[in-house]
Amino acid sequence: MNQFKHLLQPLQLGALTLNNRVVMAPMTRSRASDDDLVSDLHVDYYRQRASAGMIITEGVHPSIDGKGYCRTPGIYNKDQILAWRRVTDAVHQRGGTIVCQIMHCGRVGSPLNKDPKAETVAPSAIRCRDQIFTEQGMQDMPTPRALTSAEISEVIEQYRQATENAFAAGFDGVELHGTSGYLPAQFLSTGTNQRTDEYGGSLDNRLRFVLEVLQAMSSVLGAERVGLRICPGNPFNDLQDDDPRQTFSALLEKISEMQLAYLHVIRMPAAGLDNIALAQEHFRGPLIVNDSYDAAEADQVLAEAGIAAVSFGRKYIANPDLVERFASGGPLNKLDASTLYTPGPKGFTDYPTL
Ligand SMILES: Cc1cc2nc3c(=O)[nH]c(=O)nc-3n(C[C@H](O)[C@H](O)[C@H](O)COP(=O)(O)O)c2cc1C
Repeated sequence: MNQFKHLLQPLQLGALTLNNRVVMAPMTRSRASDDDLVSDLHVDYYRQRASAGMIITEGVHPSIDGKGYCRTPGIYNKDQILAWRRVTDAVHQRGGTIVCQIMHCGRVGSPLNKDPKAETVAPSAIRCRDQIFTEQGMQDMPTPRALTSAEISEVIEQYRQATENAFAAGFDGVELHGTSGYLPAQFLSTGTNQRTDEYGGSLDNRLRFVLEVLQAMSSVLGAERVGLRICPGNPFNDLQDDDPRQTFSALLEKISEMQLAYLHVIRMPAAGLDNIALAQEHFRGPLIVNDSYDAAEADQVLAEAGIAAVSFGRKYIANPDLVERFASGGPLNKLDASTLYTPGPKGFTDYPTL
């Protein structure tokens, strides 16, 4: 007898059709090639997890500047589109739905992880006082170059083009990565955005970049195939905002008018805000919630809290058949944290199914 009846209900999120409400959270796994291509390994990895109601891919960069970490995939050229097409075909053959998470790292990164022609750019020339993994060990991050306002338009166009590329690669939708201290979060936050043009200064100006990126992404096939991921208060990558509650209340009120497919909220209680309550108060549209859920708690919030779906990260790394395990009450495999970001199949495609 299945006890998790809410989790296993089908769902429509904008134009996205989900067979159940168990979403695979986006997770960088650092297995791409030197040309930022996904491979047969990724085809296997995502195919194995295709019974999820929806897969959200690892963060995928829209340009060489947008890459921050090593061995992450891109979606800015033809070869990358063709490589991702094999992944989306494999997921669709199993009846799944798959969304591409577009992630521009902005000031977060190391030149050692990027194309030699790439730059490190951000709203303002303020360094991330943190270290980042490279093949040569942990490194300080460089001081970024502040984008000119003409260059901001070019970056927004890169997000639009990446969205067009994602649909050419067969993705059902796209998600804007708006948290964890990457470029959109750098524009939103007072600590990283000290611009004096129309992209900084006032609250409205700090919101402008994210709103324009979402509009650009929505211009390709409609907002009903675009999601946004947020985590108000998240201090990751040296991010600091004077008043994240105010920033995100205002952002969510504005994006409620756009009719996005969904808002994906990480609760992260350690950040000191009730992010789910904040989203429920200010966003009118479907919510996917995340962070440290198990099946019982997930099923309960779906029943009680007017939430559309729950995403699972680490459980999905270790359990390709997570939906079947939830449905049957089967045991869960344990995560091997030592292989989260290592190249090759170990810890990627070799976790057993029931
Ligand atoms: C190995 C790993 C890589 C991650 N990479 C990303 C990423 O690329 N984009 C993103 O939005 N979140 C990323 N996250 C965060 C997860 O999506 C998720 O929010 C987090 O794991 C908490 O959910 P969980 O408790 O179900 O694991 C990553 C998490 C892990 C463990």
